[in-house]
Amino acid sequence: MRCLEMSRLRSAMLKAKRAEVEMVETATPKRKRTKTAVKEEESTNASSPSTHHTFHDPADVVLLRSQLLDWYDKEKRELPWRTLAVTESDLNIRTYAVWVSEIMLQQTQVATVIDYYNKWMKRWPTVQDLAATTLEEVNQMWAGLGYYSRGKRLHEGAQKVVSELEGQMPRTVDSLLKQLPGVGRYTAAAVGSIALGQVTGAVDGNLIRVLCRLRAIGADSTSPAVTQALWSLANTLVDPERPGDFNQAMMELGARVCSPKGPQCSQCPIRSHCHSFRKVHVKQEKNCRKLLGKQDRKPSMPPDIEDCMNSGTCPLCPSEPWDDELGVQNFPRKPAKKPPRVERTLTCVVIRPGERGEGEFLLTQRPSKGLLAGLWEFPSLLLEEKSSEMKQKRALCAQISEILGTHLTESLLQYVGEVVHIFSHIHQTYMVHSVCVKDADTHTQTEKVQWLSRSALQEAAVSTGVKKIVKLYDSVDAEKEQTSKDGKRQKHAATKNDKKPQASKKPKLSAADGGSRQLSLSSFFNTVKQEA
Ligand code: ADE
Repeated sequence: MRCLEMSRLRSAMLKAKRAEVEMVETATPKRKRTKTAVKEEESTNASSPSTHHTFHDPADVVLLRSQLLDWYDKEKRELPWRTLAVTESDLNIRTYAVWVSEIMLQQTQVATVIDYYNKWMKRWPTVQDLAATTLEEVNQMWAGLGYYSRGKRLHEGAQKVVSELEGQMPRTVDSLLKQLPGVGRYTAAAVGSIALGQVTGAVDGNLIRVLCRLRAIGADSTSPAVTQALWSLANTLVDPERPGDFNQAMMELGARVCSPKGPQCSQCPIRSHCHSFRKVHVKQEKNCRKLLGKQDRKPSMPPDIEDCMNSGTCPLCPSEPWDDELGVQNFPRKPAKKPPRVERTLTCVVIRPGERGEGEFLLTQRPSKGLLAGLWEFPSLLLEEKSSEMKQKRALCAQISEILGTHLTESLLQYVGEVVHIFSHIHQTYMVHSVCVKDADTHTQTEKVQWLSRSALQEAAVSTGVKKIVKLYDSVDAEKEQTSKDGKRQKHAATKNDKKPQASKKPKLSAADGGSRQLSLSSFFNTVKQEA
């Protein structure tokens, strides 16, 4: 089995070697290529680093397309945006629907996006519907999906389409790129190919991996030379008859077969074109021959063609040696990531008894620009290293006091625990506290401050960090309730003129263990009832 595969590989290598000498040409598309695609190819051909990293035999390109698309037709997942791209005959709605999907899929897994996408399209089925809604509603819909500026950009884009483009979505890759905020080169190419049938490759994270492995591109995948080479390759390979399907098939391959870890090369429909796969097998064969005590190479055989001829100077070749243990995972190479910034934030869950016996939470709105723009959160304060914890607690209390129009002392804050939330560039730890306040203190309700019941909080435009804080608060609250049923705990609620505040002791136990710090919400209501 392995010998048969090896002899096929060897003959493919010889064929490729011959083709390298005979011609350098790319397949001619039947449909018009976009300006972007043509420009990228022209500029790349002018400075092409090595033919090892391209496709030079049009027959190979034709074969690869058909192998990939046959596999896609059998294996593809039915996804709502794919269905819409096929069934929706209105070009405007189709382009809008694919645009929404591509924005949601930036940085977010397909499985997570599906539900959000279905809800979004049900609520705003056209670009006009989205333009007519408020950013608040968009943020609410987006809550939990992360990278919140994406929703804001979609909303801005929809308003622009309606107010400046007569309600017509752009019809080309170039105009998608120019006209829509948040749409970059990849998204324009994806929407253009999937919704509009524009013939252009589309290089996203999955394609970077597939193409780097396919053509043994091992230099830093974010370098300009590699970026240019990948777009050029994508434009060469894209099927002119089915550009959208081709691009989605490459994404699907990257997500399900040519995965970052544990790639399933035996399932790959285009492995016969893959330099990395070939290299792994040639290495294995060499090792086998060595083990069997055979000579490494017959003197008459051509040199290995699984390597680039200019590897010493080639801008696409890896600077580090091949690692046998990694196999095809030698590609792609990424530059070392900058470590995330470490931040700590003091945050306080402020609760008051609501009208129908249900507790209400105090939320404040973040600024309209920057991280988590416009989302709602519990009153919070970014901790400064130099300032003492007590001072900062005092500052947070002052902030809450100003909102409530009352005086809240830091000793009333009960420590709940810590919540860690990782953003792409920030490692955030929320130091969660809580305080229950009496109704008399809490009339404030401004544009940037609101009291939300639990059910309203669940629907609100809040980040995943806030959801995690609520979860922690609830787990501690439930334990407290249990402990208080056992009659082992004191009850205490913060009142405006509390003379003997409880000391806030930092528990030595972890957040999940309950500890002796936080009054349960239900116990608070008991106290209120008793007082009334
Ligand atoms: N990732 C980005 N776009 C995608 C698509 N259309 N299908 C699946 N995964 C994707």
